[in-house]
Order: sequence, then structure tokens, then C-alpha cells
Amino acid sequence: MKRDPKWDGFKPFLKTVPKQGIIAELGVYHATKTRVVYDILKPKKMIWVDWWAEYSNANQPQAFWDEAKRDALNNFKQEIAWKKVTVHDVGFMTAVRRIADERLDFIRHDADERQGQMTSVLRAYWPKLKPGGIWMGHGFENRPPWSGSIPAVVQHIREFDDVELLGVLADQSHFVLRKAD
Ligand SMILES: C[S@@+](CC[C@H](N)C(=O)[O-])C[C@H]1O[C@@H](n2cnc3c(N)ncnc32)[C@H](O)[C@@H]1O
Repeated sequence: MKRDPKWDGFKPFLKTVPKQGIIAELGVYHATKTRVVYDILKPKKMIWVDWWAEYSNANQPQAFWDEAKRDALNNFKQEIAWKKVTVHDVGFMTAVRRIADERLDFIRHDADERQGQMTSVLRAYWPKLKPGGIWMGHGFENRPPWSGSIPAVVQHIREFDDVELLGVLADQSHFVLRKAD
């Protein structure tokens, strides 16, 4: 069977996602991939969540994270001023309480890929997706210590009865889930 070319990479897949939605980016960092998502999906609103602080014992000084945040905010100066982009500079579990259930058409998570963190984020944010909404999660490979996605997705499918695993990008950089209608 021939594989659908939308799975060939990040951009081909994004081009198949409906535009003009309300979307969230969990883990923004320098907002480099965030810019690709924004330009392709042309969202009505984009919600950012990132605390720009240490999360994995990488021992980076806070100045490292401050620089990433500065870059991200600079890169999206206009969109933030136009209120197209809203920034929540807090942890994922704090920000989730600010988002209504079934508000989001699309979520991309690109942050801490250890299993416990992946499971908590999937569990907490899944109710925020609308029926038919798409979840794009970074990483689907066995690359310690960032190997949490595969077991976390398996657990998520067992726990929720409205999860469909649509596929994995060819480079294994992302998996894609859909919330059943
Ligand atoms: C370094 S990026 C991920 C980079 C990406 N995996 C890549 O390949 O380029 C992860 C971002 O997630 C944020 N982050 C990690 N854990 C978080 C949490 N629990 N709450 C909010 N932000 C978090 C970090 O501040 C960081 O900016």
C-alpha cells in the first residue's frame, strides 16, 4: 500500500490541517517551529504555554531561557500586539486551568518528552480539544531520556475512548492523534 505523502514531513502534514482554528503551542522555546505552524495554519488565535525555565536537569543558566523567550517574543511582536497570540509564561498544569474544555482545534506539544510528563500533559489537555481536534506531539522514537512518547500514547489510548492514532511523521519527529467526533 502506498503511504500518504502528508506523512513525509512537518510541513506536508500541517498543510492538511484545517486553517483559521484556535490552536495551542505547548513548549515554544525560540518559536522557530511555532512560526512554521502559525504561517501554515493561519490561526484565528494561538495560545502559547512556556515557562522558559529549566525542566530536565540540563543545567542551563536562566539567561539561556531568557534569551529563547526574548527571541520568541520578538519574532511574534506584531501577532502579540494584535492579540492573535496570547502568552502564558507559566507551567503547563497552571495554564491548563485557564483554557475552557473543547476550545481548541489543534494542539502541538513540543517540550519534556519523559513518560511521566508526557502522560500528565496528554491527560490534562486532552479535554481542551474539540471533538475532531488534532494533537501533534513532538517525538515518537526511542531516544533516551526522551523516549516517553510511545508508552505515553499507548497509555492515553487505553485511558480515553475517543483517541485515534492517525500516524507518525516519516522522521519520527511527531505523532498525530485525533479526538473522535
Ligand atoms: C527545548 S523546547 C523543546 C525543543 C524541541 N524538543 C526541539 O527538538 O527543538 C522545550 C520547551 O518547553 C518548555 N517547557 C518544558 N517543560 C515545561 C512545563 N512543564 N511547563 C511549561 N513549559 C515547559 C521549556 O521552557 C522549553 O522552552
